[in-house]
Amino acid sequence: MDKLRKFVQGMIIMLGFQFLFGMAFNLWGVLPKEETATEKSPAFAQMALAAHGLLALGILTVSLLILGIAFNGKKEDVKKFSILGFISILVAFGGGVMTLIINPEQAQIASFIMSLGFLSSFISYGRLFYILKK
Ligand code: HEM
Repeated sequence: MDKLRKFVQGMIIMLGFQFLFGMAFNLWGVLPKEETATEKSPAFAQMALAAHGLLALGILTVSLLILGIAFNGKKEDVKKFSILGFISILVAFGGGVMTLIINPEQAQIASFIMSLGFLSSFISYGRLFYILKK
């Protein structure tokens, strides 16, 4: 269980950075499809988006690892929150990809889905961390 707790702790930290990179792009970036010759994302916002995309892959991997370790054990509530966390990450990931590929008018809905997935994953892994601390 100690290993699982370390992974969950790492996940919570990664989600914190993911939130910051996402907010940085949201506030200062321009979605690639919306960019024009005069309105472009500053370099730091482009870097934040690249870091956000890469970190998303790391988060997806760690959420799968957490799921695997949780299902190796016997605790039902640990399994429950690891599934909830994994599903939330899938939702956020899907929302993120959609934000970039659908037309900019509808991208707000996808962006909202991403933040819902973020919140739900943050709560799920927060609960999991609390359970594992007991
Ligand atoms: C682990 C999965 C992910 C989480 C938890 C996550 C979380 C967030 C959060 C909290 C924000 C700020 C609020 C918002 O604008 O919605 C955000 C923004 C953003 N994320 Fe993600 N994200 C994830 C995956 C992705 C992926 C895979 C992409 C695309 C490669 C992506 C692209 C974006 C973009 C473009 C924004 C800015 C949206 C806007 O300005 O409207 N995200 N993300």
